[in-house]
Amino acid sequence: MLLSVVAGALWAMLPAYVPNNAAVLAGGGRPIDGGRTLGDRRLLGDGKTWRGTAAGTLAGVTLAVGLNAVAGLVGDATGVRLPTFPLVAAFGLSVGAMVGDVAASFLKRRSGRQRGAAFPGLDQLDFVVGALVCGFLLAPTWFRVTFTLPRLAVVAVATPALHVGTNVVAYRLGLKDEPW
Ligand code: CTP
Ligand code: MG
Repeated sequence: MLLSVVAGALWAMLPAYVPNNAAVLAGGGRPIDGGRTLGDRRLLGDGKTWRGTAAGTLAGVTLAVGLNAVAGLVGDATGVRLPTFPLVAAFGLSVGAMVGDVAASFLKRRSGRQRGAAFPGLDQLDFVVGALVCGFLLAPTWFRVTFTLPRLAVVAVATPALHVGTNVVAYRLGLKDEPW
């Protein structure tokens, strides 16, 4: 029972978990803010690029399409009912994760933090909040059916842990400059 809630919650969030990691791998090129500043600080900074954002969104949507293709098989094999993603929901979760991350960088710059500086709490939750809000806005009916309260509770607890874990791994592999 608990296991099926956890499995359903993590499955539903996979298209939101992948974009940030894909952006790290694909990032580079022109920054979204084009170098613009607000006051004496960058609007977003060089760490938020068009290429990273587009690649991250595309990776999340692509993963969702793949998950849709295997949800039935995996569900039958495990006896767990797994959610599927209408395209608009997949897009909402993926682009929302990126938007949340960009919004966090905006706040980081406003609070005087340089690119790459840690902002505990915000770093771990920005993309979840962005994904859930965008998912809800773009696919409200799907969202209500998919993100039940028990699943949302699992997401709230498991996401920070997963985020910390994957970032430490990416750092150790030399893919990321900081372990957060
Ligand atoms: N990245 C990107 N575009 C995004 C998000 C991330 O290109 N929308 C890439 C950048 O190369 C970035 C790296 O992924 O440096 C790590 O992402 P993140 O930790 O979010 O950025 P930081 O460089 O730490 O910058 P910030 O302090 O603004 O979070
Ligand atoms: Mg960072």
